[in-house]
Amino acid sequence: MKSDEAIDLIRPQLKQTRFEHTLRVAETAVTLAKKNNQSVDRMELAAILHDYAKNFPLEDLRQVINESELPQDLLLYHHELWHGPAASVIMEREHGITDEDIRNAIRYHTTGRAGMSQFETILFVADYVEPGRTFPGVEEVRETADTNLYRAAWMALRNTIQFLVGKHGSVYPDTFYAYNDLTLRLNGGN
Ligand SMILES: [Fe+2]
Ligand SMILES: [Fe+2]
Repeated sequence: MKSDEAIDLIRPQLKQTRFEHTLRVAETAVTLAKKNNQSVDRMELAAILHDYAKNFPLEDLRQVINESELPQDLLLYHHELWHGPAASVIMEREHGITDEDIRNAIRYHTTGRAGMSQFETILFVADYVEPGRTFPGVEEVRETADTNLYRAAWMALRNTIQFLVGKHGSVYPDTFYAYNDLTLRLNGGN
């Protein structure tokens, strides 16, 4: 799939603000891909597709997860997490996306996971720091992403966990695993 085909695919599925977010994520991810010697075209494609299922009805997302080999415990956690895993399945089944890096980047962009590849980490960070994001702490992560991709991902995970715990929300296990994994990778475990 080429990027213009991907844009044609997502456009009718997304609200205008989400579509614009997607274009900014793609631009940010391409910049980070260049900086980290990752494949620019494949990164652009992953970014364009990452929120494909974001505006799907929740019942549709639930059904996709139910009928897939994705972990069913996703359905016990906030529905905000569902669109990434669901999109990765739809992209493979219905749109012939077999590239594992692309599918994993889409799948884990909502939760992270332990052992994220550099490719996955770039999309994860780009989604967090794209220029339309204004939440507290984002500027620090944005600056860090320029020079230290994995530290930026770690900060994004830390902020997300703090935010969720602060409002007494649940945290999907993969998010803790991602945070712990990067803590070990960056700090040697302290
Ligand atoms: Fe998303
Ligand atoms: Fe996104």
